[in-house]
Amino acid sequence: MLPLPLNKGKGIKGIGLQNNKMGVIDEVKQRTDIVEVINQYTKLTKAGRTFRGLCPFHSETRPSFFVYPEQQSWHCFGACNTGGDVFSFIMKKQGIDFGEALRLLAQKTGITIPSRFEPDTGKDERERLYQVNEAAAQYFHNLLLNSPAGEKARSYLASRGLPPETIINFQLGFSLDSWEALKQYLMERGYTGDELLTTGLIIEAEADKTHDRFRNRLMFPIYDIRGHITGFGARVLDDSLPKYLNSPQTPLFDKSSSVYGINLASSAIRQQNIAVIVEGYMDVITAHQNGFNNVVASMGTALNEKQVSTLKKLTKNMVLALDADAAGEEAMLRSVSYENTIDSEVKVIILPGGKDPDDVIKQDAKLWQELVEKAVPIIDYNFNMISAKLDLTTSKGMSSTAYSLFPIIDGIKDEIRLDHYMTKLSQLIKIDRRKLEAAFAAYRAKKKTRKPTEKPKTPGGYTFLSSPVEEYCLTLMLQHPELKDSCQGLLAEYFENTENREIFTAWQQVGDLPSLKAELDTTIWEHLDSLITRNLPPASQTERQYSFTDCILRLREKFLRNLEEKQAKVLALEAESGGNAAELAKLQEQGIEVSIQLGEVFAQKGQRRSGAKEVRNELKE
Ligand code: UTP
Ligand code: MN
Repeated sequence: MLPLPLNKGKGIKGIGLQNNKMGVIDEVKQRTDIVEVINQYTKLTKAGRTFRGLCPFHSETRPSFFVYPEQQSWHCFGACNTGGDVFSFIMKKQGIDFGEALRLLAQKTGITIPSRFEPDTGKDERERLYQVNEAAAQYFHNLLLNSPAGEKARSYLASRGLPPETIINFQLGFSLDSWEALKQYLMERGYTGDELLTTGLIIEAEADKTHDRFRNRLMFPIYDIRGHITGFGARVLDDSLPKYLNSPQTPLFDKSSSVYGINLASSAIRQQNIAVIVEGYMDVITAHQNGFNNVVASMGTALNEKQVSTLKKLTKNMVLALDADAAGEEAMLRSVSYENTIDSEVKVIILPGGKDPDDVIKQDAKLWQELVEKAVPIIDYNFNMISAKLDLTTSKGMSSTAYSLFPIIDGIKDEIRLDHYMTKLSQLIKIDRRKLEAAFAAYRAKKKTRKPTEKPKTPGGYTFLSSPVEEYCLTLMLQHPELKDSCQGLLAEYFENTENREIFTAWQQVGDLPSLKAELDTTIWEHLDSLITRNLPPASQTERQYSFTDCILRLREKFLRNLEEKQAKVLALEAESGGNAAELAKLQEQGIEVSIQLGEVFAQKGQRRSGAKEVRNELKE
């Protein structure tokens, strides 16, 4: 068994996840009403026992998107032809990772989730780890400034307009194209292999074999507000992928709570009493280079509460710079709730023509200045966005606008601002203020009766608790990584249990257990550990391969049957409502496709039953 350096066998405090007990993930899922969540993104209408609407992931005129409250799942029968649960919906829609989606929904259901990393590292140990990062940063920095190997990185930065002052200011660096250069350098200076592993600077590829994580990349040290280096971002020098590699979750580094540039920006943010938040490392650097010193980055993800709480110590005024795409819009809707925590308005600027701040500032620093000055309060932006989507000349459009904005308005705690936006809404949809207020009161009353704590358990007694086949399949794969080569037919969608699905997806992306653990949210660690340490009956490689293929078939069958059932419901609905012929034909075709695939599964199972005898006979001989 490979050692798992990240939690040192201590587990996570606070989540007593046992196999027979409902875990925090299941709890969040059970307390969340998937219909209510998805309805915020696309208008759903009840259709039999399902809900239906226009797919929020692709553009369509006839609704082919369905939500199944009984199973707490969704499926698009149109262009996407895919589905999932409420977590995968939020992840896909907002472009966030599982941990963020979980925390977002948990917050709404009033469930507390332990922080991503409960530091079990003592103060001295942390000091020592900061020293390791500092030494590494100096090493990378020196290579960038002085080494012959660093020449390509120097010319790359020059081509992007970064002078040496900027390189020094941000302590940028370069990592050699070598597996051990950093490791050797640091170990010669007395740092231990364990310390290097804990900071994420080296990776354990196989048992007792480690190598440098960052190779042949431009290095961006990430500092906290006190000037400690917590981790690194590392960019390739060409177009290869991944563009950036970041430090994994460590006792010092939590990507989701880091704010890039905060060490250099904090005094300007205080002085100017405003912080501008962009997405990328390069955006921050170009901004500072042009004198905009109050700029920091959320590092690619939507601004989250932990980042807001760091910034809020410096200023109440925050401006988010977002690109015009849909992801930006989502981030915005989400950010409304931060306003109450900071007691102030969050403003947004929408960047023109798909550009990022780096481009805008380089091209026209004045334009950037103007954009920042003209930033609009997030709530007004939401007003514009929602009303632009709907037809305000029809009564239906007006009422849709009101009901889409009610949840946002309802989030405003400050009575005066609330009043201001009620007036604004009544003007926008040209309705008498008193009538609007009555509708709003009714909306609030209805919402109150649906308190999350009073919410009944999922209808139909459907349980999300784990499936033995899923877990057996994962255990096999985790304990015998060579089986990964034969899991082509296995799709993440086949895993109904969220934790299992997350583990499967991550396992396909990484090569070893420590990296897998680093990739996964801490709320999943305990489940992962239970799978890794589960005892499997002794078996030969052939037998194992056989059981594994068997598992895949069973999961596939379960998935297809489920899909068939969902399709049948949809088809019945369409037929009932005299749906249009082309649409019916398309659905029928999809149904036939699923039946064919199920047929294949049965055929394979049949073959295997007769084949199994041969395998057994072979093994006997
Ligand atoms: P961008 O792709 O916009 O990168 O991602 P960028 O900072 O503008 O870099 P250039 O201009 O292409 O060189 C925005 C941020 O998202 C995170 C990084 O923090 C990045 O700065 N990101 C992006 C990653 O963490 N990993 C990736 O693979 C890509
Ligand atoms: Mn960029």
